[in-house]
Amino acid sequence: MAKLRVAVLASGRGSNLQSVLDACAKGLVNAEVVAVVSDDPDSQAMQRARKAKVPAHGIAPGGKGMRAQHEAEVQRVLDEARPEIIVLAGYMRVLSPAFCQAWRGRIVNIHPSLLPAFQGRDGQGDALAHGVKVTGCTTHFVDETVDGGPIILQAAVLVRDGDTRDTLADRVLAAEHQLLPRTIDLFQKGRLSLEGRRVRILRGDSWRTKLPTLPDVLYGEGY
Ligand code: GRF
Repeated sequence: MAKLRVAVLASGRGSNLQSVLDACAKGLVNAEVVAVVSDDPDSQAMQRARKAKVPAHGIAPGGKGMRAQHEAEVQRVLDEARPEIIVLAGYMRVLSPAFCQAWRGRIVNIHPSLLPAFQGRDGQGDALAHGVKVTGCTTHFVDETVDGGPIILQAAVLVRDGDTRDTLADRVLAAEHQLLPRTIDLFQKGRLSLEGRRVRILRGDSWRTKLPTLPDVLYGEGY
């Protein structure tokens, strides 16, 4: 069966991008990354893409009032790469409603909190500051709201007494690196059924029994 064509949009470190590249390389997911797009041409994500020999497109935003132009440039790259799914992996720009609608049901994001709690830029720091005892990460379809689209997978991570923002973020990140490739895997297998705001995961295999799970992490349905 042909591999699923994946485009990844990433702004920074690119560790989630790496988890997708690795899962593809290992054959864990029947997919290939056909393009990486970054709004920071010097980002680590771009370096990771080049190292993996994936076409890497650095498209710097042109400043105030240039959002539409920047997005059109991103769309042009995507048109050429012909992905079947777009993955936002630490992409720090908000996409326009028109873009989200055009890719509806074919664009996913990973967020470092148990949505809908702690939307926004610092899900881990906000969770810690709020004093929650459990946080985690979420993959979801992207709609025109920020971090508000239909939830696909979640994993819950315990907050420990001595946690700093960074120790907590590291443990959440380890779970992100499992959830994101698995989300692509489920999409590739046609197991994600979008029913209104809910995503039903159709029957099939489980990664819980196939891959090592992390201690003190609770995996939601579908993993
Ligand atoms: C991750 O925590 C992701 O959930 C959030 O941004 C961070 C990106 O990290 N959206 P990386 O660039 O993938 O390492």
